[in-house]
Amino acid sequence: MLQSAALSSRSVGIEIEGLVKRFGSVKAVDGVSLAVEPGEFLALLGPSGSGKTTILMAIAGFEYPDEGRIRVGGEDLTWVPPNRRNLGMVFQKYTLFPHMSVLENIAFPLKMRGLGRAEREERARAALATVRLDGYGERKPSQLSGGQQQRVAIARAIVYKPRVLLMDEPLSALDKNLREEMQIETKHLQREIGITVVFVTHDQTEALTMADRVAVLDQGRLQQIGSPHDLYETPRTAFVAGFIGETNFCKGRAQGAGVAGQRIGVTLDGGDVVEATAVEAVAQGAPVRIAIRPERLSLGDPATGLAACVEEAIYAGNATTLLLALPSGQSIRLRVPAGAALASPAVGERVGLSWRVEDARAFGDAA
Ligand SMILES: Nc1ncnc2c1ncn2[C@@H]1O[C@H](COP(=O)(O)OP(=O)(O)O)[C@@H](O)[C@H]1O
Ligand SMILES: [Mg+2]
Repeated sequence: MLQSAALSSRSVGIEIEGLVKRFGSVKAVDGVSLAVEPGEFLALLGPSGSGKTTILMAIAGFEYPDEGRIRVGGEDLTWVPPNRRNLGMVFQKYTLFPHMSVLENIAFPLKMRGLGRAEREERARAALATVRLDGYGERKPSQLSGGQQQRVAIARAIVYKPRVLLMDEPLSALDKNLREEMQIETKHLQREIGITVVFVTHDQTEALTMADRVAVLDQGRLQQIGSPHDLYETPRTAFVAGFIGETNFCKGRAQGAGVAGQRIGVTLDGGDVVEATAVEAVAQGAPVRIAIRPERLSLGDPATGLAACVEEAIYAGNATTLLLALPSGQSIRLRVPAGAALASPAVGERVGLSWRVEDARAFGDAA
């Protein structure tokens, strides 16, 4: 696409090394190191207060770190002021100027950079076309929908060909349908112009939908960075296992010692012995938590597998979720997709649970 070509820039990578940022006694970012590849879409995902915005602000230059380095395209920007970094930013609030037309809004960063009128107009129109809003240039922001305003904000952020686009929860003010539409659209746009994106969100579905890789944060610490598939299939911490997708946690004790990746026996709190895969080294008798996804549990005869009792069956069209009571008294969830061959057991029925040993991940349980 011609317009996209006009906006495409040589994409660059970002390296964050040992980043620490304190606010008084709060360690907002606690030793984060990660690298974003040129042209990559990286999501920073974590609960509220986990340090996502602070990391983005440090990349942008609006916060200076207490420790660590930030490099963009190989250049050390740690102490460079924001206006000299040439990075694009889009925030949750569109922050468009209400008294300016859409085109004037988009051209504004070019005016600040001293470009002439003709070139400003040409580049602003190209950016407007890239976000598929040709013909809307003369309107005021108030005459656009929320999604259109957010597209204008994106156009304004890419019009001066920034090296990197930083986005902080840019879709969270939109309603669900529009948000899902804009997730796909923003992803397409990123691919089209080939720009490196760091995208902050607390919404795991949004992160998994949009990102090439996701960096999961908790309390200012990087828990894991990987593809959506890696994070879902092989979470490295119990936090990631619980935060990405749905997970059952069963408490117990390791029968013997085990190293990472090894099959271990676990005595559950109810007394049953089951098998799991150790994610980290565990000592004999150490408390562990086994994480198992609801859709990875299989139903069978109560004589084989872990005995459980059906407490509730929740039909949701595409799947049925069973709430099952274990001998320990703990309740866990099992999901059967619609159209699965087996009939759903009745409430009160006793069943036997089994799983592939690689789907049961055992984490050390300090608590
Ligand atoms: N300017 C600030 N002054 C004091 N504390 C701050 C400031 N900015 C962030 N914090 C604190 O740092 C932590 C991380 O905040 P933030 O990066 O905004 O998290 P997130 O974007 O993941 O919700 C929180 O405990 C927050 O209260
Ligand atoms: Mg934030």
